[in-house]
Amino acid sequence: MICVPVMEATRKQTLQAIEKCARSADAIELRMDLMVDEDVAQLIAVARQTSANLKIIVTCRRKEESLIVRSGSIEEQKKTLTNAAKMALFRQAALAGADFIDIELAEGSRSIQEIKSFCRKHKSSTRIIVSWHDVFKTPSLVRLKEIFQACAQTGADIVKIVPYARSSADNLRVLKLIDYARQQGRDIIAMCMGEEGKISRVLALSRGSYVGFAVGTGGLSSAPGQLTIREMSQYQQLLQGHKRSSNHCYSSAEAQNFVLLGNPVRQSLSPLMHNTALEAMRIPGSYSAFCVSDLAAAIAGIRGMNIRGASVTIPFKTAVMEYLDEIDEDATALGAVNTIVNKAGRLFGYNTDWVGLMQALKDETDIAGKEFVVLGAGGAARAAAYGIIKEGGRPIIVNRTREKGQALAKHFDCPFYPLAQIGKIKAAGLINTTSVGMYPDINQSLAPPSAIAHYRIVVDVIYNPLKTKLLRDAEAKGCKILAGLEMFVRQGAAQLKLWTGREAPLELMKKTVRERLLNIES
Ligand code: ATR
Repeated sequence: MICVPVMEATRKQTLQAIEKCARSADAIELRMDLMVDEDVAQLIAVARQTSANLKIIVTCRRKEESLIVRSGSIEEQKKTLTNAAKMALFRQAALAGADFIDIELAEGSRSIQEIKSFCRKHKSSTRIIVSWHDVFKTPSLVRLKEIFQACAQTGADIVKIVPYARSSADNLRVLKLIDYARQQGRDIIAMCMGEEGKISRVLALSRGSYVGFAVGTGGLSSAPGQLTIREMSQYQQLLQGHKRSSNHCYSSAEAQNFVLLGNPVRQSLSPLMHNTALEAMRIPGSYSAFCVSDLAAAIAGIRGMNIRGASVTIPFKTAVMEYLDEIDEDATALGAVNTIVNKAGRLFGYNTDWVGLMQALKDETDIAGKEFVVLGAGGAARAAAYGIIKEGGRPIIVNRTREKGQALAKHFDCPFYPLAQIGKIKAAGLINTTSVGMYPDINQSLAPPSAIAHYRIVVDVIYNPLKTKLLRDAEAKGCKILAGLEMFVRQGAAQLKLWTGREAPLELMKKTVRERLLNIES
């Protein structure tokens, strides 16, 4: 059973969210602690009208056990609801026909008993979930079992245990706890919160967790790490290998799922870009970001779950190479992989970073026979220099730290200049590969305006902001400019080509990412 939390702030939004969820989820969880002045009986009635089959969970979480808090005076009142007020709310929910009431172990076994006998007395079929959350960590398995027993001993119909995962090993503990509960014939809902806990959300359901929580389309997440309902459904089918007919789901044979491996990944725009493209290409599947701390386990997951492809980002682009079966010539030369293709269980590594940069640059200028200053000496500089040489041009490395710049220049047999001498260089183009000028430091640039006039084209690999200070200065000097967005979408399109063999909808991807960035900027 997949459940979507409903926690919208206004009444209108709440009703809209319930209607939306009723179409795609098996259950909704009414987070009464996050709603402003809602009438639980009325919400249950609306949900019942929308769908007779929809299961309804009512909860009123204590702020100590929730990672989501809202500001505002009414919210403050809600968050400090007394135990008596909560009990009154739960009694209303039982009378209104809630399928489940989720009450925290911390409310005390007396309160739990009280609500159970109220249900019995009123012949309510409401089942009681007794829950426990830790928003900071995952305790040992021994401790988790003790907590499980404490919840079970209150007479809970279902026990819910949700700690916060700090490492991927925490997920294993929670999965073992599910086995433990199931061996005793008990119903349990268990998973880990947090980015590190994402994998438990996928695996817990197939392990026997009674409910999995996901975010509805355009909805709000009630805990970090929640997957969308679409992703959750697809992973379930992948794991269970059974076909469902509803049109938002795909069979395991059809589904082509992709992941991003990095740390951190929270800010990444790749899921937005790739999911938009997959939908437009009518490819059944989705793309999800995973914050990884154990790279070997993540790669095993790609093999084990038949994930068709992956993007690899900071800090794993080099480290990932040792786990792959084959690496293409360009990625080997660059010493970095940003794309994995799973071909029937064999993992192939590629690099599309340099491809994206060169495709975007070639659209604007000739490269062969021309010189381009590459600002920086990290991975992005290496990709730029590599691409320029491949296209018959000549890089000139300019870097703050002499040793790093010289080493890169030596590798590519090209000139090096310290940053202080940037004003003296003349070349066809300038490519900034450093992070200087990136949000939030949007008024920084390594190249003084006087030095920029020397170039016909100025390129910045940064895409947030859409136009960096370097590009604004270059535009003011009459140079052609090329923004990082152009490279970002092209490297993404090249990944999709490798994964699916098909051309990606570049303009749509660009429009989607640009709109999101404009929203962030405004
Ligand atoms: P990536 O792999 O994404 O290119 P990186 O390896 O961290 O990232 O490289 C970043 C580059 O940006 C480096 O060349 C760095 O210069 P140093 O070699 O001197 O460290 C350059 N860089 C980052 N911040 C900088 C700053 N404030 N001023 C000048 N150069 C900077």
